[in-house]
Amino acid sequence: MDVVTWARELAAVHLADAVPRRWRHVQAVADQAERASRACGPDADLLVAAALLHDVGYAPPLVSTGVHALDGARYLRSIDVDERLCCLVAHHSAAATDAELAGLAAEIAEFEDEQTPVRDALWWADMTVGPDGEVVAFPDRMAEVRARYGPDHPVSRALDKSMPEREAAVQRTEARLRALDQV
Ligand SMILES: [Fe+2]
Repeated sequence: MDVVTWARELAAVHLADAVPRRWRHVQAVADQAERASRACGPDADLLVAAALLHDVGYAPPLVSTGVHALDGARYLRSIDVDERLCCLVAHHSAAATDAELAGLAAEIAEFEDEQTPVRDALWWADMTVGPDGEVVAFPDRMAEVRARYGPDHPVSRALDKSMPEREAAVQRTEARLRALDQV
C-alpha cells in the first residue's frame, strides 16, 4: 500500500466518525497539500500523508496533553510511523508555540522541526483551509481563528506570537509555487 492510501485509511479510522467536521477539514488540507506537492520533489507523498494525519491528535482516545499536534505525533511515533512524518505533525502550523505556552516545551522538543519546503507546504495547506474544508486566504483563516476564540484566549495569544513564522512559511510556499509556474 502506498503511504498516501495508508495515511488516509489511518486518519479515517480515527476521525471520520468521531469528529466528522475535523475529518472534512483534514481531507481538504490533503487536497491543498496535493496542489503544493509539486514544490516538494521526492517528498510529495510525505507531504500529503502528513496532511492527512496532521490533526489525528484530535481523536478523543488520543488526547493526552491537549496540544493536538503533540498528542498526534506521539501516537504516530508509538506505532512506529516514519520519524519525519511524526515530526511534521508535531510542528505543523507553529504548534511549538502552542506547546510552549502550555508548558510543554521539553515535550515538543523531542520532535525536530525540519524547516524544509515540505514543512512550509504543510503549514500553508493547513492555514489556507477553514474548519469546514473550504479554501480560504491565509489572513482570513487567521482572523477566523482569532474571532472564534476571542483575543484573550491562549489560542489567540499563541497565534499572535507565532504570526511572523506562519507568514514566512506561507510566503515561502507561495513563492516556490509561483517560481514553478514561471518555468
Ligand atoms: Fe488542521
